[in-house]
Amino acid sequence: MRRIALIGFMGSGKSTVGPLVAEALGRTFVDLDAVVTEETGRTVAEIFAAEGEDGWRRREHRALLDATERKDLVLGCGGGVVTGLENRDVLRKEFLTLYLSATPESLLERLRGSKGRPLLDVGDPEAALRELYEKRLPLYEEAADIIINTDGREPRELSREIAEKVKRES
Ligand code: S3P
Repeated sequence: MRRIALIGFMGSGKSTVGPLVAEALGRTFVDLDAVVTEETGRTVAEIFAAEGEDGWRRREHRALLDATERKDLVLGCGGGVVTGLENRDVLRKEFLTLYLSATPESLLERLRGSKGRPLLDVGDPEAALRELYEKRLPLYEEAADIIINTDGREPRELSREIAEKVKRES
């Protein structure tokens, strides 16, 4: 069975659904953001503040490459992982990649009141999210082997559907 990567916008449910998918498949869930923050001992916001988005992207890329050393993995990727061409190449070659899609409206609803996401920590988070959404949608679709619509779905039910699809693909 191939390594699995979950991609999707902030708030698409990667960190909620990912561990459930891993459990259903008897695999280990790894959160790419957590790999970077644990390695540095700093939060995402602290890394963005100290090194800018470019610094974050370099660390994220290295962590993604390191993840290819492991086999039995369900990897939850940060929402911006698809912005790097090299990352999209790694996803294509090394992972079965599932895009958890959601409308901007459901994302906004799920992200309400959440903190720690520097790209949305701006004057008008809704406008920022809609702008990122427009830019990234084609990248998620390009990187995905499988697209799963998450709107109005319950995490455990979604994780069962994903596990079934992954078994069929492998
Ligand atoms: C980002 C998403 C975040 C985190 C960082 C940048 C993005 O991860 O990697 O704040 O560019 O969309 P989540 O998608 O897990 O929130």
